[in-house]
Amino acid sequence: MAFFNRDLTDIHCFTTDELFYVLDKAAEIKKLIKNKEVSKYKLGTGKDIIVASLFYENSTRTRTSFEIAAMRLGLQTTGFTGTEGTSVKKGESLRHTLDMYEAYNCDAVIMRHPLDGSARFAADHLGIPVFNAGDGKHEHPTQTLLDLFTIREHLGRLKDFDIGLAGDLKYGRTSHSLVVALSKFPGVRLHLFSHEDLALPDALVSHARESGVELTVHEDLGDMASKVDILYSTRIQKERMPDLSEFERAKAISEFTFDMLEKTRDGFGLMHPLPIDKYAPSIAPSIDGHPKAIYKEQAGNGVPTRLVELALSLGLIGADFGGQAYAPPKERAQFIEELEVVQKPARTDVSIRPIRDNGVVIDHMRPYREELLTRVLQVRERGDSYRCGTLKALNRPGAIKGMLMIENRELTTEELSVVAAVSPGCTVNIIRGGQVARKIRLQLPARISGIAEMCCPNRGCVTRFEHAESVAPAMLRAGRDQMRCYYCDQLMPSAEMF
Ligand code: CP
Repeated sequence: MAFFNRDLTDIHCFTTDELFYVLDKAAEIKKLIKNKEVSKYKLGTGKDIIVASLFYENSTRTRTSFEIAAMRLGLQTTGFTGTEGTSVKKGESLRHTLDMYEAYNCDAVIMRHPLDGSARFAADHLGIPVFNAGDGKHEHPTQTLLDLFTIREHLGRLKDFDIGLAGDLKYGRTSHSLVVALSKFPGVRLHLFSHEDLALPDALVSHARESGVELTVHEDLGDMASKVDILYSTRIQKERMPDLSEFERAKAISEFTFDMLEKTRDGFGLMHPLPIDKYAPSIAPSIDGHPKAIYKEQAGNGVPTRLVELALSLGLIGADFGGQAYAPPKERAQFIEELEVVQKPARTDVSIRPIRDNGVVIDHMRPYREELLTRVLQVRERGDSYRCGTLKALNRPGAIKGMLMIENRELTTEELSVVAAVSPGCTVNIIRGGQVARKIRLQLPARISGIAEMCCPNRGCVTRFEHAESVAPAMLRAGRDQMRCYYCDQLMPSAEMF
């Protein structure tokens, strides 16, 4: 079964067939709940299934709707709401807390956590399904499923429509997941409005555009609202801002007013993941209850969608799915290209003394990356004898290149992956007995991990040293010279991960 035992950590991991299947099932369940056809949705009764609900951050909707969904399914729940009263307050790591719920034989974990990428870590760490109920500013995929459900319910379709996203597009995880999901449907025209400090991250803008989404950035909220079928307003995420002046600037321009609502299209729907901050409202209170304001219905859709998500991963439904199932992209295993060995006399026209006996020569590096490479290969700590520098590239007049030679050292495959990350496209000569025994060219590997010096530049990432979660960084190739954090999806030039 395509969904059995599956984690729901991010929205990337759904095909459109799977998304439609979840939404169709949720529509059925919504009707069944409304009609109290209990035996058709209470599918877990008598199966002794316990779901752990671990909320490290505040929540009303996500936690309650998951719990109600579990109750309606006939499951039992345990866990915590906020860390007060738990051993997290005694300094317990995420890993150890998760271990407890597995040791108690819980069947699934629903987790909200302040660190980006914590859900992916939890999913990898545990052998039971993990539902991401929001991880830092990264993703909120179960919110997105209820958002898609609401859009389809309101418009009758998930293609060929205009949708505006407003508010905090930088820190708002609901917008991040929604943009990824919308990129999977044809004819979506995405309109963005935010304070410039809170704009949608470039990586998501690029992802949407590359997926064929028509994207327009607006300078006026009312003007944008008049051009869309759905407006998805969001709260300014004050709690995630290092600088509160960002909050003051953004709140001043972010309120959607009754006047703006009156100028919207027929059939317009005003959505919001909620909560609305009553001190800095992103939607004027006078709009509540208006037929175009669909955010209460939207929140209500959290129960049938989350019930379906739980039921699918726990194997209670899903056997009839016949569409295209998600398959992770294949990793490009080969990053080492063997080159023909041509013995050449040692150069005498450069200031760097060649290796006379055994060692490695890392050549054709990006200029000035040699020092970085000595650091990540721990050349000094090991007491290696080495030479490095940036010098003229003889075969390309006017060009320069970096070079690092290390005496009496051969590099492991893992170390070669580091070299590749620091300077993709470089060559490595393995010298034995003064002769080139092997010559290779390195490209960025599909995945790099296990390197102590590696660090995700996103300060909110679960792998960062300062959070003391002991999660080793892992990076995935995202382009010719670009990497992506496996946990939090932060993009970076390859040299910036050290
Ligand atoms: N939309 C949402 O995540 O709401 P809560 O924070 O109340 O769970």
